Amino acid sequence: MNFRNLIVIAGTLLGMQMAALWLDSQPLLPGSVYAQSASSAPQQDSDYAPQGAQTCLTCHNNPVVTSILQTGHGNSNISGSPFANRACESCHGASPDHVSALQEPAVVFVGSGRFPASDVQVQNQMCLNCHQSRETVHWSASEHQAADLACVSCHTIHASQSSVTNELRDQNLCLTCHLEQRSQLNRRSHHPVNEGLMSCNDCHNPHGSPAVGMLSRNTVNETCTSCHAEKRGPFLWEHQPVSEDCTVCHNPHGSTQDRMLAVRQPFLCQSCHSETFHPSFLYSGDDIAAGNPGQSMVGSSCTNCHSLIHGSNHPSGARLTR
Ligand code: HEC
Ligand code: HEC
Ligand code: HEC
Ligand code: HEC
Ligand code: HEC
Ligand code: HEC
Ligand code: HEC
Ligand code: HEC
Ligand code: HEC
Ligand code: HEC
Repeated sequence: MNFRNLIVIAGTLLGMQMAALWLDSQPLLPGSVYAQSASSAPQQDSDYAPQGAQTCLTCHNNPVVTSILQTGHGNSNISGSPFANRACESCHGASPDHVSALQEPAVVFVGSGRFPASDVQVQNQMCLNCHQSRETVHWSASEHQAADLACVSCHTIHASQSSVTNELRDQNLCLTCHLEQRSQLNRRSHHPVNEGLMSCNDCHNPHGSPAVGMLSRNTVNETCTSCHAEKRGPFLWEHQPVSEDCTVCHNPHGSTQDRMLAVRQPFLCQSCHSETFHPSFLYSGDDIAAGNPGQSMVGSSCTNCHSLIHGSNHPSGARLTR
């Protein structure tokens, strides 16, 4: 038996013990603390199980279910938590027919053979009843909402740990669906996400945001300069595209070019500076073939001389050379 199994077993035993302790220590849950609004049929006080979680746990007292007692959701001392309200039914909805006749519970998440999952909207609304502020405030306008993702696509609620574990921060969760980013992050030059030094959530809010691409800050540049502060400026001599959008030149996830550049130098620069007096002809194939005297510069990249490509504070740095 390995260490991990031991931990799992210990956790399971702890879970069972806690469930027993918890059952012993609970008074009957108070009547109408929590105003339900989610499920389609209006639910009345009398629809809720009279003994709250104790009713449910007479049949569902197994470690998978009772693991929730070890989380904030299962803690009745945290005001606003499900267990300070309707307990199981804060999320699963009042389910009198389920208790009396084993019909479908009001809200089923994920679902298992016997009862299919409820509509995603219905599921999510149960969570949003309590989670409509802070990080989830922009959910309704997010691409993930539009793509019909359920909260439980990413969160596991019956788990002995907080549902937001290190595992959840793990990019693998995101990369199971985002294959393009998976391949970009495997390119030679990339942000160290796979290396575990940063996560998708450092730049994105998976619940949506007011910014493009569900970025965690208001703009691309604010997102980038939250870590790369030295690129923020303001500079005496700005380089216009830099102050506009870092992704004009960089792929934020990874690239086959050095420094995550979207395009190799000098072509990157020449996409905008084709008319410049010296560089464009120096680097064009025709001129090189014609034996242009400027050839001595061929092979050096533009930033060999224009090294302060992100902006300069030198009095004579107008050409970003110093
Ligand atoms: C009389 C026993 C009994 C009681 C009381 C009971 N359940 Fe169930 N419940 C069951 C059985 C049996 C199933 C089907 C189990 C299965 O298919 O694995 C079930 C299934 C469920 C499911 C669906 C699981 C899935 O994903 O398919 C949920 C959710 C659920 N119960 C919640 C509750 C809640 C909440 C309460 C309290 C309000 C409750 N149950 C009370 C017996 C009970
Ligand atoms: C915070 C919301 C929430 C609360 C409170 C909650 N559940 Fe759940 N329940 C879920 C979600 C979400 C799932 C889907 C699986 C998961 O995320 O763990 C689920 C799954 C289940 C299942 C199916 C598990 C399986 O075997 O796959 C049962 C049964 C169940 N819950 C019963 C209960 C009972 C009984 C309680 C009270 C002791 C309860 N739930 C409290 C949200 C909740
Ligand atoms: C009755 C209100 C209520 C409902 C319903 C509810 N939550 Fe929560 N949730 C809370 C509270 C309160 C906390 C903070 C607990 C704490 O302080 O530890 C919390 C914490 C969380 C956290 C972060 C901390 C952790 O331990 O995981 C996540 C993620 C979360 N909830 C997701 C969900 C999802 C997903 C659902 C729907 C399946 C849901 N919640 C339903 C009240 C609720
Ligand atoms: C695409 C995956 C994904 C979906 C879908 C998702 N979440 Fe999250 N959620 C996360 C991740 C990842 C974190 C952790 C963020 C971090 O730690 O930086 C998180 C964190 C949270 C937290 C905050 C926990 C804390 O630390 O305070 C809450 C609350 C929460 N989610 C609720 C929800 C609710 C409610 C829904 C559905 C409306 C939902 N989430 C849908 C991935 C998701
Ligand atoms: C260093 C910051 C950063 C990190 C880390 C990051 N992203 Fe991004 N991501 C961005 C930026 C910036 C954009 C472009 C936003 C825009 O302009 O639309 C973006 C765009 C996206 C897009 C939209 C792509 C498109 O073509 O519209 C997806 C999907 C995405 N990222 C997923 C992920 C996933 C999944 C991870 C983790 C594996 C991740 N990102 C990590 C910064 C980041
Ligand atoms: C269950 C699949 C799934 C998971 C898991 C998932 N996503 Fe998504 N994501 C989608 C879908 C579907 C879309 C909308 C279509 C698209 O843009 O690819 C989307 C869109 C996005 C976008 C916006 C793209 C745009 O067009 O602006 C970003 C950013 C993103 N996801 C980041 C993440 C991050 C970060 C995670 C992990 C916390 C994650 N996703 C987990 C399915 C998923
Ligand atoms: C959460 C912090 C963080 C954010 C936000 C961030 N980066 Fe980075 N960036 C890093 C780290 C860490 C490295 C790796 C440094 C190293 O390897 O020495 C890095 C490296 C880079 C590199 C150099 C890669 C190389 O090959 O040397 C570039 C270019 C870069 N980031 C651009 C960006 C852009 C553009 C954005 C915004 C889309 C951004 N970064 C957002 C942390 C961040
Ligand atoms: C006009 C194109 C362009 C734009 C826009 C741009 N960069 Fe760069 N960046 C470059 C080039 C070219 C290099 C490589 C320089 C070298 O190799 O000497 C580079 C290198 C970097 C590096 C790694 C080397 C270093 O100097 O630390 C980071 C980090 C970086 N850029 C961040 C950013 C951030 C953050 C933004 C937005 C504020 C941004 N870049 C906007 C062209 C650009
Ligand atoms: C997206 C277009 C774009 C890209 C790509 C770009 N630049 Fe620029 N660059 C500009 C603009 C716009 C200005 C401001 C021009 C002006 O003020 O006349 C500028 C200004 C400059 C200047 C200052 C010249 C002057 O007249 O003030 C230099 C030097 C320069 N860029 C070099 C580079 C180099 C080297 C690269 C490649 C690493 C590059 N640029 C990539 C758009 C771009
Ligand atoms: C050997 C050094 C060197 C290299 C390599 C170089 N430049 Fe320059 N560049 C300069 C100098 C010096 C100036 C300033 C000339 C002046 O002020 O009269 C300049 C001026 C410029 C200007 C401003 C022109 C104007 O009209 O005022 C731009 C734009 C520019 N370079 C872009 C580039 C690009 C793009 C590349 C790569 C294709 C490049 N440079 C490669 C040294 C270099």
